Amino acid sequence: MVSGPRGLWGSRVGFVLAAAGSAIGLGNIWRFPTTVGRSGGAAFVLTYLLCVLLIGLPIMLAELAIGRRTQRNPVGAFAALAQGSLWRLVGGLGVVTGVGILSYYSVVAGWTIGYFLNDAGGAFANLPSEEYVKQAFLSLISNPTMTLSLHAVFMAFTMAVVLGGVKGGIERAAKVLMPVLLIILLLLVLRSVTLPGASVGLEFYLKPDFSKVTFATVMEALGQAFFSLSLGMGAMITYGSYLSRQANLFSSALWVVGADTAIALLAGLAIFPALFTFPGLSPAEGPGLIFVVLPNVFDKIPGGMVFGAGFFILLLIAALTSSISLLEVPVAYLIDERGWTRRQAVLALGALAFALGVPSALGQGAVGWLTSLPGLGVSFLDAMDTLFAKYSLTIGGLFLALFVGWRWGVEPALDEIAFVRASRFNRVFFRILLRYICPLAIAVILVNLALSSMTP
Ligand code: PHE
Repeated sequence: MVSGPRGLWGSRVGFVLAAAGSAIGLGNIWRFPTTVGRSGGAAFVLTYLLCVLLIGLPIMLAELAIGRRTQRNPVGAFAALAQGSLWRLVGGLGVVTGVGILSYYSVVAGWTIGYFLNDAGGAFANLPSEEYVKQAFLSLISNPTMTLSLHAVFMAFTMAVVLGGVKGGIERAAKVLMPVLLIILLLLVLRSVTLPGASVGLEFYLKPDFSKVTFATVMEALGQAFFSLSLGMGAMITYGSYLSRQANLFSSALWVVGADTAIALLAGLAIFPALFTFPGLSPAEGPGLIFVVLPNVFDKIPGGMVFGAGFFILLLIAALTSSISLLEVPVAYLIDERGWTRRQAVLALGALAFALGVPSALGQGAVGWLTSLPGLGVSFLDAMDTLFAKYSLTIGGLFLALFVGWRWGVEPALDEIAFVRASRFNRVFFRILLRYICPLAIAVILVNLALSSMTP
């Protein structure tokens, strides 16, 4: 058992819920449909599932194993397993990435607060037209006072929970209300697939057209898998570090990956059939997709106002159980490695992430050049998302796989995962995945993407 001042999860169930809480969030309900819509539908969904199984699951196990073995934050963990080496820079990349993602994550989560207020206030009841919600969305996100206050409120929530420490704050928050979110989501799916004309959307979402798969889409799928599973930046190292020695990592990881994937697939099933029945909306809508489509679906459900308000407040809670893991990584680093108190670390990093999120908040119409960055043509938020979710996480994942496969060793990792009861086949399979398949696949995708972006 662990001694010393580090917190521990109250129970294995508590850990699984907290890790699932980290995984399930805006990544599933906001980013997954957005990326599916931009990347052409069903073929992307299949590519995504492959990435989750072949790359996501082994890397999740690797992160949890590193975390529990070392009982440290990502930087300290790499330093402990490979003393005096440069591997700790991989942990450092994770710490930076946590702050980077948190900055715009909080902006989008702020929109869900705005939507909760709108729904509860009746603004989305008896909609005059589908277009109406789009206009309401645009006026919300382009209003600087509004978006900045909502961003500030969400960041304050996140900081408050992380201040509470591991068991009191994070675990308790994670245990609340997630099943209710699932129920409302199922209701949405039911309504969406039974709308007249839903089959067009179902086809888009479920019938793959493989001519649409390019290296660019594979890269999107991989980035989405890392983002959605909270991988590649050490969040799972950090959560694993608060885990007691008894828990079986393999079954915990399976639960987390299964739940995360199920919620993402359901979110797509709620969005796409409905989307195609509304004229004037395109699947490639971008970050506003769910915010435009969902109120229209709720409007077609009896009691939609209540369900809508319920949905957005639960989405907010799901986002919160993710954002706390984004903040916990750099906080754990400052506490463990730099001797800061939890309070100092939370205040400083929360303020930093807030400031870094300001251009993302203002770049949705309030400030022109942030809305369409000169030379790039995308918004500041989109650019941050590409930089951190697509590149930083996958590069982190590449090094994680290399580290466990070739430096720390697959055997000690397997021992930590407690594969004792797993078959020989599983052991061999895991070894091949971590040593060869994961690093090679990620490297090939990254290199191809770099090459294709160099050729005009
Ligand atoms: N997985 C979270 C979500 O889906 C986001 C996240 C990414 C959290 C990386 C931690 C680390 O919303």
